[in-house]
Amino acid sequence: MSGTSTAQGRFIVIEGVDGAGKGVQSRLLRTALERCGFKVLLTREPGGSPGAEEIRNLLVRGAADKWDSMTELLLVYAARRSHVEQTIKPALAQGTWVISDRFADSSRAFQGIAGGLGLETVERIHQQVVGDFMPELTLVLDLDAATSLARTKARGGNEDRFEKKGESYQSRVRDGFRLLAARSPTTHALIDAAGSIDEVAQSLRQTVATRLQLPALLQVTAADLA
Ligand code: TMP
Repeated sequence: MSGTSTAQGRFIVIEGVDGAGKGVQSRLLRTALERCGFKVLLTREPGGSPGAEEIRNLLVRGAADKWDSMTELLLVYAARRSHVEQTIKPALAQGTWVISDRFADSSRAFQGIAGGLGLETVERIHQQVVGDFMPELTLVLDLDAATSLARTKARGGNEDRFEKKGESYQSRVRDGFRLLAARSPTTHALIDAAGSIDEVAQSLRQTVATRLQLPALLQVTAADLA
């Protein structure tokens, strides 16, 4: 194939509070898009490149007060810079679609809104580090803080630094995501994440097909991932 004719891939982000189901839903969406014939890269933040995964480890483990919100913001943007430049942009340039489990809206919701830095501060750093590069579609999985925290507790593991900030912090994160979705209705969709895995997956597929003007995406169920 002559490299010049390769169409750019499309960039989709899945956001939401911890425990909203982003992990399983991004895998199901990847499979649905692959069944339509697209090449898809599934990636995540913080992380998604070797250097950014190292920064992730600093962020997600340890005591809740290990970093203040500004230090978190600087760490996530250092990681994001590496992720965008080394992973996302090269994939899109090759025609690969990219689904990222979290991106800049997480910094807006966690550090900007729940952490109290304000959206303007996040935006200034965002412009310096990432510029105008942004996802074509952001899918926000919406779930109340009590349910989402119960799900993350049941899951266990030691990547729980943000969960340790407590229910009122998580509840501000949720409000933050809802605000971000409401203020940009053309690029964002709010998806009710309280249903079963397969119900939420169907709603995501329908939204992606409508917003990105694709033919209906083939059904993929949780059993397909087993
Ligand atoms: P994950 O559990 O969804 O992989 O995300 C790890 C944590 O990182 C999650 O609790 C939210 C946090 N985070 C931020 O606070 N700001 C950010 O910009 C990103 C990408 C994640």
